[in-house]
Amino acid sequence: MQFADRTVIVTGGGSGIGQAMAVRFAAERAAVVIADRNGGRAMEVVRKITAAGGKAVATQTDVSLSHDVDAMMGLAAKSFGPIDVLVNNAAAPGGDNLALMDETTWDRDLAVCLKSAFLCCRGVLPGMIERKRGVIVNIASVNGLGYFGNEAYSAAKAGIINLTESLAARYGRYGIRANAIAPASIRTPIWQHRIEKDPEVLKRLEKWYPLGRIGEPEDVANAALFLASDAASWISGVVLRVDGGLMAGNPLMAQDLLVESRDQTI
Ligand SMILES: NC(=O)c1ccc[n+]([C@@H]2O[C@H](COP(=O)([O-])OP(=O)(O)OC[C@H]3O[C@@H](n4cnc5c(N)ncnc54)[C@H](O)[C@@H]3O)[C@@H](O)[C@H]2O)c1
Repeated sequence: MQFADRTVIVTGGGSGIGQAMAVRFAAERAAVVIADRNGGRAMEVVRKITAAGGKAVATQTDVSLSHDVDAMMGLAAKSFGPIDVLVNNAAAPGGDNLALMDETTWDRDLAVCLKSAFLCCRGVLPGMIERKRGVIVNIASVNGLGYFGNEAYSAAKAGIINLTESLAARYGRYGIRANAIAPASIRTPIWQHRIEKDPEVLKRLEKWYPLGRIGEPEDVANAALFLASDAASWISGVVLRVDGGLMAGNPLMAQDLLVESRDQTI
């Protein structure tokens, strides 16, 4: 019940992690604005939420375009009033291999994954400053913390982590909190094009995870719900890794390093 009377925007809420977050916030009584480039999928999520007794509206929005974002903010205010929580989640698979990347791909990845957060934050901040409260949750990635390929996307994700710190530092005195979540591999449609080329890709990745599995969208939704809630009222400017232990260290490399422990079972 902790989100009753609160309005939450989830960008990219038509699929995967965004969908899971939208459904969770709505189940906690938030009014949810689902902004997605794919308006049909956003509408499907709204139907799912309203069928369960929740409140939501869908808007077809390309979050890399300021006029789309402005229109989305207008619809959100008209539908549910001031915005309490913004979740910057929309992103698309990024350009890989800098040496071969064209300029359009670089620009598109930075616009969809980073400029979008600037545009959406700019849309909600004046209202949050005036009301002296508000929460921003930015969905980054472990790609923003180290090398995992997809260089343009990764640079944007590193940028969103720094942007989170700037938001937390500059607007904290207005009661506004900003935090980032850095997920590792999560089973969502973002993987579809890779699975088509390599059906076993997610299975293969499991061995890198200390917890022995890849993540599910709900793993990220749980973290987002916590960071947006009053239970996190003194947490701002952090990057919460939701990664099954991936970034804690590399046990396979450690085994190679510590030859004497190779034969140990624990
Ligand atoms: N799935 C993973 O393994 C993983 C890992 C780390 C980080 N993430 C991050 O989690 C977030 C959600 O990813 P997902 O895995 O749920 O992907 P997804 O492809 O399932 O969902 C992304 C959604 O964003 C929407 N979208 C894309 N570009 C948009 C735009 N310009 N404007 C509006 N909507 C747009 C898509 O239509 C889609 O509905 C992304 O920020 C992604 O970078 C995902």
